[in-house]
Amino acid sequence: MMRSIRLLTGFLVLATVPAAAQQAPAQPEGRAVFDMVCAMCHSVEPPAKLAPPVSHAAAYYLRKHETTDSAAAAMVAYLKAPSAETSVLPAHAIERFGLMPSQSHLSEEQLNAVARYVLSVADTAHVRPGMQHH
Ligand code: HEC
Repeated sequence: MMRSIRLLTGFLVLATVPAAAQQAPAQPEGRAVFDMVCAMCHSVEPPAKLAPPVSHAAAYYLRKHETTDSAAAAMVAYLKAPSAETSVLPAHAIERFGLMPSQSHLSEEQLNAVARYVLSVADTAHVRPGMQHH
């Protein structure tokens, strides 16, 4: 009896964690793409792996664009054809990590979904919207 109560409590704790951690609308498909493809190089939050954490990269996109739609479109374009000229990151990011390899092996739908997911985890406190310049 004791044992099954403890098991049940443990299960309830595990079951409530994801809901509590979820601040932005869920992007399940984009998250799946992220975990499968992007996570080998990118963490969501610092510390960085082989690339800048996407919560920071996403914040630079939101800072530069008026709407999430336009930020997502620009990110998808970058994912297909990365270049130093179109990167929104500070120049030292490419110096430190090198250029991202193109992700054009993914479908348009997967790229859109993963861009939406990445934007949903943007750390806008790190890169404040107030720093916006047009
Ligand atoms: C092989 C490693 C690797 C993989 C896989 C990878 N990235 Fe990157 N990514 C990088 C590196 C390195 C940078 C930093 C240099 C740059 O911006 O090109 C970067 C930069 C970025 C940026 C900032 C773009 C900018 O404007 O500079 C975003 C957003 C991003 N990645 C998202 C993703 C997403 C989403 C995926 C999965 C579909 C992904 N990356 C897969 C290595 C990777």
